[in-house]
Amino acid sequence: MFIPAAPPVKVVREALLEDRMVMVKSSSVDLVTQTDQKVEQLIIQSVKEKFPTHRFIGEESVAAGEPCVLSDEPTWIIDPIDGTTNFVHRFPFVAVSIGFSVNKQVEFGVVYSCLEDKMFTARRGRGSFCNGDPLQVSDQKAIKQSIIATEFGSDRDPEVVDKIFSSLRNILCIPVHGIRSAGTAAINMCLVASGCVEAYYEIGMHVWDLAAASLIVSEAGGVLMDVEGGPFDLMSRRVIAANNRTIAERISGEIQAYAPARDDAA
Ligand code: IPD
Repeated sequence: MFIPAAPPVKVVREALLEDRMVMVKSSSVDLVTQTDQKVEQLIIQSVKEKFPTHRFIGEESVAAGEPCVLSDEPTWIIDPIDGTTNFVHRFPFVAVSIGFSVNKQVEFGVVYSCLEDKMFTARRGRGSFCNGDPLQVSDQKAIKQSIIATEFGSDRDPEVVDKIFSSLRNILCIPVHGIRSAGTAAINMCLVASGCVEAYYEIGMHVWDLAAASLIVSEAGGVLMDVEGGPFDLMSRRVIAANNRTIAERISGEIQAYAPARDDAA
């Protein structure tokens, strides 16, 4: 498997030791740094040298005005730093996420958790691995004995925040053993794949946060679902990733769903 992540990871690790210039994107809590932009360019350049006709969806390229189109063509879906807010605050969960899709289906995914030094990989039909060791989701069937991961995202519209808290309240009061947030969608999903948490759900993250990790979850035996129980849609910005369908469906029954603008909305 061609993994264009080694030089970018060095850049992320070195940048963590330096002062970071923080810029904002859609709002004052949607952050970006020069490292996000530099890492994305490094990844795109290295892929282009090997595969000049392939297409890209990169978080920072889209922020700079590139289209966000998932076509049938071979496409690299890149989040140079998933967990940018963590990166800015040195909260120690930061990942580089690279998915590769053909015919709108993710064929392989790599999530590198930079500070844990964990390389999660998956190839369609060939399983998921962490540093080469096979991954398997939790076999827990009872939601009351589960840990659920979620995030608060960067939308501070009070109506959205009310829905987030209402969903959180419903799930916490099932009751579940606990709620966790790593601060990166990709690492939350790798925790599901690793069997450390039973499920992760969120509304509002993007295709680049999810693409690689979605395959890592399904190849570890997990399920992906829309927050209202329908099929998972990579561009919808909504996901439940769980160890099994029963837990995913129970969570979907507790979520106050809403629909943010899709990633492929023109
Ligand atoms: C964010 C993280 C965060 C999630 C946000 C994402 P970024 O990605 O994955 O956990 O709550 O929805 O946008 O901006 O750090 O790449």
